[in-house]
Amino acid sequence: MSSPSELRTARLLLRRWRETDHAPFAALNADPMVMEYFPDRLTRAESDELIARIEAGFAARGYGLWAVEIRETGEFVGFTGLAVPSFTAHFTPAVEVGWRLARSAWGKGYATEAALASIAFGFRDASLEEIVSFTSATNVRSRAVMERIGMTHDQADDFDHPELDETDPLRPHVLYRTRG
Ligand SMILES: CC(C)(COP(=O)(O)OP(=O)(O)OC[C@H]1O[C@@H](n2cnc3c(N)ncnc32)[C@H](O)[C@@H]1OP(=O)(O)O)[C@@H](O)C(=O)NCCC(=O)NCCS
Repeated sequence: MSSPSELRTARLLLRRWRETDHAPFAALNADPMVMEYFPDRLTRAESDELIARIEAGFAARGYGLWAVEIRETGEFVGFTGLAVPSFTAHFTPAVEVGWRLARSAWGKGYATEAALASIAFGFRDASLEEIVSFTSATNVRSRAVMERIGMTHDQADDFDHPELDETDPLRPHVLYRTRG
């Protein structure tokens, strides 16, 4: 059985964050491949601060970016879940589904499995009507997850991320949508 703060899939446990997640989360946030499509890698302090913001979101909304654990081993591998974008764009206010996994956990379908559970929670338990996802246009792996979970892309929704500099190659973003 799933409770609002915990979701189970065939291979994964999506749960609230624990103290023991801080070190492995900082390690993946410092990995240049994991952070290739973000403006900067994160320091340990920034990584810890991100966990604190995520946990504050859970307290406020009852959902958020869940810590993802492999059920068989108990290993923490990153996050997947629902978040509220803090910037303003043509599609906000909105709830997005997002993911960030350690490289060792890529290529196994974990992001897709966790994302499907997250959006099912969003529609069924959080009564959302629509969930979006966005990323830099060049982030092929992330776009592939969006497509695998059945999200649709309309070029008319593409946008320049307002928090990135006009000369930043990461600025052009794609938006995907799905409705419950
Ligand atoms: C985006 C990210 C989560 C995608 O990871 P991923 O491993 O490519 O995606 P999935 O977990 O869905 O796995 C799919 C892959 O596993 C393979 N796979 C293996 N076993 C599988 C299974 N049982 N079920 C489904 N897919 C499986 C698929 O064939 C696919 O492989 P492919 O990439 O060679 O086609 C990962 O690249 C990441 O964390 N990137 C850094 C953070 C980031 O950019 N986040 C998004 C910012 S908006």
